[in-house]
Amino acid sequence: MGKVWFIGAGPGSPDLLTIRGAKLISEADVVVWARSLVHEGVLEHASPDAEIVESTTIPLEGVRGMYERAVVEDLKVARVHSGDPSLYGAVLEQIELCEEIGLEWQIVPGVSSLGAAAAAIGRELTVPEVSQSVILTRRASRTPMPNNEDIKGFARHGTTMAIFLSAAKPRALQEDLLDGGYAPETPCAVVYRASWPDEKIIECRLEELADRIREAGFTRQALILVGPGLGAGGTRSHLYSPAFSHMFRKASQEA
Ligand SMILES: C[S@@+](CC[C@H](N)C(=O)[O-])C[C@H]1O[C@@H](n2cnc3c(N)ncnc32)[C@H](O)[C@@H]1O
Repeated sequence: MGKVWFIGAGPGSPDLLTIRGAKLISEADVVVWARSLVHEGVLEHASPDAEIVESTTIPLEGVRGMYERAVVEDLKVARVHSGDPSLYGAVLEQIELCEEIGLEWQIVPGVSSLGAAAAAIGRELTVPEVSQSVILTRRASRTPMPNNEDIKGFARHGTTMAIFLSAAKPRALQEDLLDGGYAPETPCAVVYRASWPDEKIIECRLEELADRIREAGFTRQALILVGPGLGAGGTRSHLYSPAFSHMFRKASQEA
């Protein structure tokens, strides 16, 4: 029958691959990976007998042939994705293909660049009483945005926003964020290649965002974070407050 696992390889550093992902890669007959997005160190888990396929140049039609072979030859395929496959991972079309040809499939979650970027700047993205929501989005490119999902509209919420795939046109992005209602001094962070050896970080105010991205020359592999929570001290979480009772602990009388 064969089976394909869509494995989240993490944001870059190979030690951010999950234990489950590493185990499945080590058991795979075929490992498919994209050199431009996934660290080569992830392949160290592959068996010496495994067939390694570099996917950057293969369109979906090429993948079809490989998946059909997996059905006929009962192969285990590890299809390695950057970050977590659930975010801009292009897994949907592959799942449809698997369903069509009768190849079993499963998704294995990974550490997203969202978590890696927040770790790089040493910030929690949800700060009590400042920002309790995170909007994950992108600007339109060749992939259009659905109605009601424009950056300007999301900016009206004023909460933390994580913007993927959008470093190439920073001026338009900055304008949309300002037009949507973020103040010019709203804190922003841009993390380029989070967790890779050449990781770089920009921290600035929104009014400087486009100039700083341009200066740094980031056009891809950068995650842009915006929102008052990035600069806020905020208040402490209720969960760890001595005055707050929950299932596992009673509030202290003094507090
Ligand atoms: C096709 S999406 C894939 C996202 C991926 N599935 C994830 O969970 O991070 C590629 C975009 O994710 C972000 N990205 C991926 N890896 C990154 C990294 N190591 N550092 C910063 N941003 C990254 C960038 O915005 C990039 O343009």
